[in-house]
Amino acid sequence: MAWHIHQLVTGIHIFLAIIWVGGILFVGWGVYPAVKSLQFADQRQFLTSMMRKTHWLFTLAGAGVITTGVLLGTWLGPIHHWNDILNTYYGNIWVTAFFIAIMTLLWGIFTGYRQTMKMLSDKLLWEQAEQGNPKPLKNKMISITALEFIEVIGFMVMIVCMILLG
Ligand code: HEM
Repeated sequence: MAWHIHQLVTGIHIFLAIIWVGGILFVGWGVYPAVKSLQFADQRQFLTSMMRKTHWLFTLAGAGVITTGVLLGTWLGPIHHWNDILNTYYGNIWVTAFFIAIMTLLWGIFTGYRQTMKMLSDKLLWEQAEQGNPKPLKNKMISITALEFIEVIGFMVMIVCMILLG
């Protein structure tokens, strides 16, 4: 029975991680570049709507990954005391994944999302682009891409942690 629960929670954990990591990478590497071929007004409208609609899904998926990761390591795993976190290899890797996940999720909410929405609501930036001066908008988009890259590094570290835990 315990084995079935462990497999079920692992399945949910992996499914949510696919939505969180895959969703954000698809938006950043697939949707965002493709949108650039649209007219500026359409880009702005589409990106605003997409960000509003996907933001909560990705945040909830990230929170679900952390919750199931905590259950897998503690209730269903070998961590039963605070000492197990500090004094075992498994505990060290698990707590690294835990903190990196929290930081990555908060970074996504408070930096990535907020900065993108700020850029999308900056009327002047978009008006300048429509009038033939897209440079300030492009520069802002480049700086947001750089901010988002920190999230990608967080995902990479977590994946390495998962390989080391498995
Ligand atoms: C990028 C995010 C993550 C991905 C893609 C991911 C992926 C996975 C995968 C594929 C497994 C199954 C490994 C196996 O059964 O061999 C797993 C297991 C596990 N994950 Fe994650 N995970 C992520 C984040 C986290 C976080 C943040 C935590 C901690 C809070 C965590 C804790 C665990 C634990 C404890 C296991 C069970 C390992 C074991 O004892 O066999 N994961 N994860």
